[in-house]
Amino acid sequence: MRRLITFGEPPTAPLPDDLSDAPDWVQANPRKIDRALERALARPAGGWYAVDDRRAIGRSPRAYTIAGEALILWRTPSGRLRAAPEACPHMGASLACAKTRGDNVVCPWHGLELGDGARGTWRERQAHDDGVLAWVRLDDGEAATDAPVLAPRPRGFLSGVIRMEARCEPADILANRLDPWHGAHYHPHSFARLAVLSDDGDVLTVRVAYRVAGPLAVEVDATFHCPDKRTIVMTIIGGEGIGSVVETHATPIGPGRCAVLEATLASSERRGFAVARRLAPLLRPMIARRAARLWVEDVEYAERRYALRQREPVRLTIAGGG
Ligand code: FES
Ligand SMILES: [Fe+2]
Repeated sequence: MRRLITFGEPPTAPLPDDLSDAPDWVQANPRKIDRALERALARPAGGWYAVDDRRAIGRSPRAYTIAGEALILWRTPSGRLRAAPEACPHMGASLACAKTRGDNVVCPWHGLELGDGARGTWRERQAHDDGVLAWVRLDDGEAATDAPVLAPRPRGFLSGVIRMEARCEPADILANRLDPWHGAHYHPHSFARLAVLSDDGDVLTVRVAYRVAGPLAVEVDATFHCPDKRTIVMTIIGGEGIGSVVETHATPIGPGRCAVLEATLASSERRGFAVARRLAPLLRPMIARRAARLWVEDVEYAERRYALRQREPVRLTIAGGG
């Protein structure tokens, strides 16, 4: 085993007396993970879907498919985020190529200006910019809320966002994160060791040594919980960077396809952090690269889970305990 040198503020919480010493494959009980997933999937999202990094959407319309709906998102000159169907209501031209005029879009085929007010079935969708991510609300049968359900975020933070697509459903993305026991085995380049300290079915608490470079690692305590049916949030509660969060949002694209949006909101009480925030444009790609590396593997995990479900409705397990 490679030598590990931890640095930075260590977590101070004592290890629980009943900390399991069972192997990770025994602790990773698929029935328990499925039950936690079921509870997460029952939580309301108010009809809101995370679309992309807020910075990805500017004045020119950008096309996305969300839960089977082809949409465009764009910004007005004042920076307000707008969303609407991607097909022009006249003869169906793609508004992804539309020009903008003031707050509106102008169809490239015959010049119809669209924005405020409905045109047949074409009508604007509610959009929301939470300062990190862009969201859209769809009429999906859920009781609508004015804004997405967000877990608490740190007051000052440095953020990085990645967006990847996966051949699976949002549930597979959540299931991956509801299984922290895979961390040190499946991502040894990032996690040197990981222990689940507690699991009450809704909140998982872990102590994890995160590799910074070679044998150098930072050890923190972190919780995982699902504030809504398409989101899982990791929050650092002990050690370096308390209050930092990693929000993972899984947005359905269509059957068997979804987007993973992960926003890392790093925070620190350290004095140098104010300087780091000023270096945000330089540090953002680094944060995103680390997250993307993990997600390349986790997308494989999630896709595998989905593929198995497609071909084997009955799951075989050799797990102990229930
Ligand atoms: S298709 Fe858009 S104006 Fe005709
Ligand atoms: Fe993972």
